[in-house]
Amino acid sequence: MSEFSRGLHRIRTRACYQGWISRYELLVFLHVFGSIVWIGVGMTGHALLVWSDRRDQHEFAATLSMAIKWIELPALVFGPLLLVVTGVALVLDGPWGFGDTWVLVGLGGYAAALVFGGVFQAPGTKRVNALLAERGPDDPEVIALGRRLNALMWPELAILLVVLLAMTTKPTGSGSVGFWSLVFAILASAGVVTARALREAEPRPLLASRSS
Ligand code: HEM
Repeated sequence: MSEFSRGLHRIRTRACYQGWISRYELLVFLHVFGSIVWIGVGMTGHALLVWSDRRDQHEFAATLSMAIKWIELPALVFGPLLLVVTGVALVLDGPWGFGDTWVLVGLGGYAAALVFGGVFQAPGTKRVNALLAERGPDDPEVIALGRRLNALMWPELAILLVVLLAMTTKPTGSGSVGFWSLVFAILASAGVVTARALREAEPRPLLASRSS
């Protein structure tokens, strides 16, 4: 769909409500709000965990993990739920179809991010929190596990960025070369950063045992 017809659709739906916001516009607002909550909390939490690890602030990382647990339900459960419900409603209410490339990328990316979070992040977070309560924030196993979890946040955030790119640029047909190039760049960079972070998460041998 071209920029022109998209704009036209917005004006048309808005005009129906004579200056008041339309149902479609309200859905867009809630949809974008859901994405801010999900991606915002994910990125901020990740950045602060990386920061605290780089500066050996393990106590702070432990407090942060507890804080993230506290906002888990509203931000990481209701946020994605609001996003998909309003996303489907927008497709049904607007001039879009479930076969449009960017909608498919949205659905696929959304499912991939949820599966990724369910398979790696949720059980890992549970384990690290249990270990943390038992051994404290300075335990090497707690630190290594926390680092591995942080490393696995990169691909999840990259998937969410790809969906965000699809949503905002709405690529269709032959006009989507730029979109796919950027997708490749985002995923390749995330792969490199993840591999490096996973390598750095490995417990390092002590200097004494290395020299013996
Ligand atoms: C991680 C998942 C998602 C994120 C971060 C996201 C984010 C966004 C954002 C920021 C917009 C506004 C774009 C703009 O106004 O230019 C948007 C629009 C839209 N999204 Fe999503 N979205 C996601 C998933 C989905 C899903 C799963 C669907 C459909 C099943 C969907 C359907 C739509 C539709 C139809 C619009 C068009 C609204 C418009 O521009 O008029 N989204 N999305």
